[in-house]
Amino acid sequence: MDLSGALRAIADCSVLTDADAVAGYVADWTGRWRGGPAIVARPRTAEAVSAVVWACAAAGVPVVPQGGNTGLVAGAVPPAGAVVLSLRGLDAIGEVSDGAVVAGAGVTLAALESFAAARGLTCGLSLASGESATVGGAAATNAGGAEVLRYGSARARIAGLRAVLPDGAVLDRRRPPVKDNTGYDLVGQLVGSEGTLAVITDVTWRLDPAPRARTVLALAFPSPEEAVAAVPVLRGLPGLLALEWSDGAAVARVAAHLDAPAPLPTDGCWVFAEFDGAPEAAGVVAGLLPDDRIAVAGPEDRTRLWRYRSRTTEAVGAAGVPVKLDVGVPLAAFAAAREAVVRAVREVADSAGIAMEPVLFGHLAEGNLHVNLLPGPSAPERGFSEEFAERLEAAVLEQVLALGGTVSAEHGVGRAKRAWLERQRGPEQVALMRRVKDAWDPAGLLNPGAVLEPEVRRRTSGDPGADAR
Ligand code: LAC
Ligand code: ZN
Repeated sequence: MDLSGALRAIADCSVLTDADAVAGYVADWTGRWRGGPAIVARPRTAEAVSAVVWACAAAGVPVVPQGGNTGLVAGAVPPAGAVVLSLRGLDAIGEVSDGAVVAGAGVTLAALESFAAARGLTCGLSLASGESATVGGAAATNAGGAEVLRYGSARARIAGLRAVLPDGAVLDRRRPPVKDNTGYDLVGQLVGSEGTLAVITDVTWRLDPAPRARTVLALAFPSPEEAVAAVPVLRGLPGLLALEWSDGAAVARVAAHLDAPAPLPTDGCWVFAEFDGAPEAAGVVAGLLPDDRIAVAGPEDRTRLWRYRSRTTEAVGAAGVPVKLDVGVPLAAFAAAREAVVRAVREVADSAGIAMEPVLFGHLAEGNLHVNLLPGPSAPERGFSEEFAERLEAAVLEQVLALGGTVSAEHGVGRAKRAWLERQRGPEQVALMRRVKDAWDPAGLLNPGAVLEPEVRRRTSGDPGADAR
């Protein structure tokens, strides 16, 4: 029996091979990265996941685990011939105990948050893609989001998990004792391993008391320097949940996309601060800026103000296929980094005669800059290519490294950033990572080419302006 036949014989598992049916699984959300062709297996139980992994191991075929496919670094884009193992069918949520709940890998973050909210709790992970992004994907990528400063990234939220090893065996740490200081932290190793070590089937997710009432402040600073200077004051305010930023131009882009005029000037740099209750924060903030540069929204209308930040990726995607970078620098270097990035992009773009528009936003508390570079309308005719995109990336990342920053602050390495891993972490650490990979996955069948190994088919020509979603 061939592999698709063997997979079809597995109980509680559907299999897709038709080109149209698999299309949404072999390209990433941005449309920049395309893999495949691939078989897609959609198991509905952990046992079926184990059977799929075992069958692929027996056939020597690589497996690419995939959640909501909303990652932005091509970490779930399959090499040709691989099996995409979609975990979306594992969508059961258990009971809360010891302050945590076991959720199937395919539970979306939105579903987990509604489950938590119905009990006066929060999962503490807030992503713009939460309607599609899954618990398993968040665990595999150590996802961050808007509330990292209050609740930590996914690693801090995860108390345990169950995973299928590359030979089909099951590692069950769903309910480790609350205090358990025995041996190596295998759960911690799998979090952020981007599907290269094991397939996460269930996650034990910590839930915290939900904020009582959320207040959002938007502050339109005339410059990034003034925005950064306000951070110590804002961080000192009680109940702070999130501290984000957007270039005024990025806000203006979202406003145009939503056909919803921005309530404040878009000349400089916006800061978004969210608080648990704390309307008194508005009073403290009033000293930072004139009234016409501050907007406040309470629980009823907070999403109307937040959308000028949270819907940026959507607005960028509607305009084209961007070159996406996700860099971080120490806060003291934030304004200089923003300036250096813009200058580096302009130099490369000018030298090639190709217009590129930087859309800049991110997580201010962590010094995290999302750098989205949108090709101008005539970029294809002027020779926009993957090679040019890589020159842009290199120009930005060199600036970031020179400032002591990171080439991936939040989105992970995937396939998009693996060429930079050694520059970031050094050859000794990367060699150790390869030994870790070999220890978990000696046959190298789990998500090959993500994080470490080279191997992905990337689009090499044509049409960077197309919206391929
Ligand atoms: C955000 C995603 C792009 O912060 O990470 O909106
Ligand atoms: Zn982000």
